[in-house]
Amino acid sequence: MERIAVLTSGGDAPGMNAAIRAVVRTGIDKGWQVFGVQHGYVGLVNDNIQPLGARDVGGIIQQGGTILGSSRCPEFETEEGRLKALRTLEQHAIDALVVIGGNGSQAGAYALSQMGFPVVGIASTIDNDLYGSEITIGVDTALNIALEAIDRLKITASSHQRAFLLEVKGRDCGYLALMAGIAGGAEYVVIPEMETDPEAIAERIRDAYRKGKAHALVVVAEGARYNAEKLQNYFQEHQQRLGFELRATILGHVQRGGAPGAFDRLLGTRMGAVATDCLAQGKHGVLVGLLKGEYATTPLAEVVAHKKQLDLRLLDLARALNK
Ligand code: F6P
Repeated sequence: MERIAVLTSGGDAPGMNAAIRAVVRTGIDKGWQVFGVQHGYVGLVNDNIQPLGARDVGGIIQQGGTILGSSRCPEFETEEGRLKALRTLEQHAIDALVVIGGNGSQAGAYALSQMGFPVVGIASTIDNDLYGSEITIGVDTALNIALEAIDRLKITASSHQRAFLLEVKGRDCGYLALMAGIAGGAEYVVIPEMETDPEAIAERIRDAYRKGKAHALVVVAEGARYNAEKLQNYFQEHQQRLGFELRATILGHVQRGGAPGAFDRLLGTRMGAVATDCLAQGKHGVLVGLLKGEYATTPLAEVVAHKKQLDLRLLDLARALNK
């Protein structure tokens, strides 16, 4: 192993830079040359690779986003695109690739490894929906951003005795909404994994007012059938009968752009170091993740074949805490 490349792909996540920095510096520490691929698989398909030295990754650990840029690359989903990517890697005499990203990115990593190229994945997505890691890079920071929004909404909600709804990211996974709801003390959490009747939300809000609460807060996952827009429409339509209005805030990409907290900096750093250790040991075709508190690897074949399950018992906990 002499020359490795690293790329970030899919939605950026706070802590990706820490992982890049760790791959570069631990790679250099092993006597390798490290290269950065620009804008994910697009850079591989279009031959956009530059050497990365130790100083090129200085001052980035505290930055959100990714210094390499990221993208979603439909061309890489075609065989022709993947062959182009392989050609780029061969032209630069790259021996192995580290892919930092979530589900789509690791499916790409698996495709390349199936074509015989050594790849190690690093689990990174704010959605926490990737099999092979209990927590992924970016989740903790994204959760803290949601909590800051919840805390602020509660203050203004209490001043006006209002009901608010906050929509958080997560694609079709309810992890961020559920955890933000529990840690933020929401009255109700709406997630894609569990069908929700808007009338049940209305009843919970009424109940909060009956109990003398000054506010009611509902956290909604963007992927839920009743997302913020639909719920707001429903509550507007039935406002007279329900007796209150529900105001919606959609957090959107604000949630993805934060500066990484200590947890994500360390997670990215540790995963980056484990990834280069794997390559040094000749281990590839795997995803580096955190399992039962330990840094561990899972074959990419297993990662792409499984859907991570959300622990729905936490929904009962959220309900029980809401008194
Ligand atoms: O996967 C991360 C994520 O931020 C999801 O939460 C969201 O649904 C999606 O990416 C948005 O993707 P894009 O930024 O490409 O619109």
